[in-house]
Amino acid sequence: MNDDILSYSSEKKGIVTSKTTSVDTSKEIISLRPINFKEYIGQNDTIETLKIAIQAAKMREEPLEHILFHGPPGLGKTTLSHIIANEMGKDLTVTSGPTLEKGGDLIGILTNLGEGDIFFIDEIHRIPKVVEEFLYPAMEDFSVDFVFDKGIHARSHRYRLKQFVLIGATTRVGLLSSPLRDRFGIFRTLDFYSVEQLVVIIKRSAAILNTTISDNGAIELGKRSRGTPRIANRLLKRVRDYSLVKSHGKVNQESVRAALELEGIDTLGLTSLDRNYLKTIIDFYKGGPVGIEAIAATLQEENDTLVDVVEPFLLKIGLVLRTSSGRKASEKAYKHFNLKLQKRHY
Ligand SMILES: Nc1ncnc2c1ncn2[C@@H]1O[C@H](COP(=O)(O)OP(=O)(O)OP(=O)(O)O)[C@@H](O)[C@H]1O
Ligand SMILES: [Mg+2]
Repeated sequence: MNDDILSYSSEKKGIVTSKTTSVDTSKEIISLRPINFKEYIGQNDTIETLKIAIQAAKMREEPLEHILFHGPPGLGKTTLSHIIANEMGKDLTVTSGPTLEKGGDLIGILTNLGEGDIFFIDEIHRIPKVVEEFLYPAMEDFSVDFVFDKGIHARSHRYRLKQFVLIGATTRVGLLSSPLRDRFGIFRTLDFYSVEQLVVIIKRSAAILNTTISDNGAIELGKRSRGTPRIANRLLKRVRDYSLVKSHGKVNQESVRAALELEGIDTLGLTSLDRNYLKTIIDFYKGGPVGIEAIAATLQEENDTLVDVVEPFLLKIGLVLRTSSGRKASEKAYKHFNLKLQKRHY
């Protein structure tokens, strides 16, 4: 499994903190993370929507509406929430869905938020149902109901909250209950980045890391980064090490190719997990269609890892097709492995 997946799942296990989750606190990520809209590359429509909403909120002297970001890991959802807090000049509190185990966990955080503060919940689709029910009135009326005692002695007390702004991030919007989804005023899906956009991100990161990278080197790296800034930044560091040791620190197309080959990253940026996923469909299930559970069982991988991390990019570049009867490998996938498409006879 590659680092990206590891860091992704380690974030899932992160504990509740009032500041940031584990993967986001690593020094390197902080230094490469854009801190304002000017430094944030791409996602133009989303940025425009956010800038307008922020400006309008400031003109009205009101807090922002609640915002929901959807998209595969590493595309910049956490980064955006930091930028929004910066632009609004408010504090940011970060947590993630699975770490909010009890209603009390959530209430503890909510009651500490100041007027207009930003509350970021990563993986919001993984909030337990019991906790989610506290979130509804908090988002809508900025209040929470405490219940004291049980049975006939039960009393409830309504506690007023400051008008906070909830930013939710999810890789799977379909798993969000509709009452929760409906309470967000702004909903944006982040898309994969183009090679051109990744080149700009790579050059910016290289400058921060005091590394020079040739134009062709940056393009080659951009092509192999699965449309994802986090992957581009991670691979840049591997390439930088390789070039320092093997080619006098020069990062060019050649050293990028050699370093990424060593990492098991192919010309399309596919990792060994991506390739195993495709080969399972092609070899084991004769090209499909096959259900995701069957693929996961054959690969001994988690369903969620395949659906959240592996499939979005393979779908995006058209190597896999999702049909009502399951996943199918496309002709392009066969070509990528230099295989002939097997025609199925029914
Ligand atoms: N638009 C961008 N411009 C420049 N760098 C970016 C951009 N988006 C993301 N990055 C870089 O990619 C890294 C990963 O972004 P981020 O942590 O925000 O992703 P994410 O969408 O929150 O992922 P996850 O779903 O895994 O939490 C950041 O540290 C940042 O350096
Ligand atoms: Mg994140």
